[in-house]
Amino acid sequence: MARMSGRPQIALIGFMGSGKTTVGALLALELGYTFLDLDHALAERAGMSIPEIFAREGEAGFRRRERSLLLELGDQPGRVLATGGGIVLEPENVAFLRRHGLVVALTADLPEILARIGGGEGRPLLRGPDPMSAAAALWSAREPLYRGAADLIVDTKGLAPPEVARKIADWYRMARREDGSGA
Ligand code: S3P
Repeated sequence: MARMSGRPQIALIGFMGSGKTTVGALLALELGYTFLDLDHALAERAGMSIPEIFAREGEAGFRRRERSLLLELGDQPGRVLATGGGIVLEPENVAFLRRHGLVVALTADLPEILARIGGGEGRPLLRGPDPMSAAAALWSAREPLYRGAADLIVDTKGLAPPEVARKIADWYRMARREDGSGA
């Protein structure tokens, strides 16, 4: 598969709390790839935290920034890219990530995700009187999008981040061998 050749970018997608940033950094180390967290880069570029961007510009403003930064920075071989949980809302974002590399979805079950997210600190979409119901509604809407976008779906339930990173690295190496793209 053409997307396997060279040192393809590996994008991590998944719900808030699925571990994209932590796992992504470990995976990059394991593969000798660079690492970029898109939300981190976005906040740095904006000179504002993600909650500040939501407060000032609304979700629409955040999504515009997310999309344009993805297009600007989102295509680099030999890199692991951790994305924000809403990246899959825009079909063009998904098409872009898939065109430029492999897409790995991290998942777990909702109770485990809720336990990891806690009160939704730093996550503007979960602000409000009932963060748990807000998360559950988003979860139902988003899960099919993550699944539909992914080359690989990793169930992280009960796994520590290094174990998740190892699983992805093993899959990646095997897929490349099978594809004849080298280890
Ligand atoms: C969002 C997830 C957040 C961040 C923003 C919106 C979402 O990233 O991009 O708050 O829509 O799910 P994490 O998935 O890293 O929490």
